[in-house]
Amino acid sequence: MARDSRRLSRRQFAFLGTQAVGAVVTLLLGIPIVGFILSPLFHRQQVVWRQVGDISGVPDRQPTKFEVSFPLDEWTSSNVNLAVYVVKLNNEYLVFSNTCTHMQCPVRWQSDLGQFLCPCHGGLYDITGKNIGGPPPKPLPQYVHRIDGTTLFIQNSFTESI
Ligand code: FES
Repeated sequence: MARDSRRLSRRQFAFLGTQAVGAVVTLLLGIPIVGFILSPLFHRQQVVWRQVGDISGVPDRQPTKFEVSFPLDEWTSSNVNLAVYVVKLNNEYLVFSNTCTHMQCPVRWQSDLGQFLCPCHGGLYDITGKNIGGPPPKPLPQYVHRIDGTTLFIQNSFTESI
């Protein structure tokens, strides 16, 4: 009896089946990787200037707290007020987040110590925001800022989908 040359042998069937399963697995694993690689093409960085306020009353070497409205996240239009400290040193201004670099507790200026104190674990920062004691690993985050007249603005950048 002649064998049909169009029929697959068991070995050929197993080989092609393995190849097909491998191709499907590669495709399923590859889609997220390709998406991750290409996703920056579909986002753009947007820079926004947020108004801090009138800084004409900020005394020299006396960090002053302001509340600034920030978007809660990139998906909603809700805002949240966050504190920033404005420090005037010899007519130069520094603007810090009040978020501790250890575990994100809010720091506050202690005028009797002349330092920023984090109440959670006793982290200390000097008037320039440099970490000088306790667990904080880095200085307080500083904002890029500009001054129009006596109004201070800070730069806040975020990524939006396009
Ligand atoms: S969160 Fe500030 S010292 Fe730990």
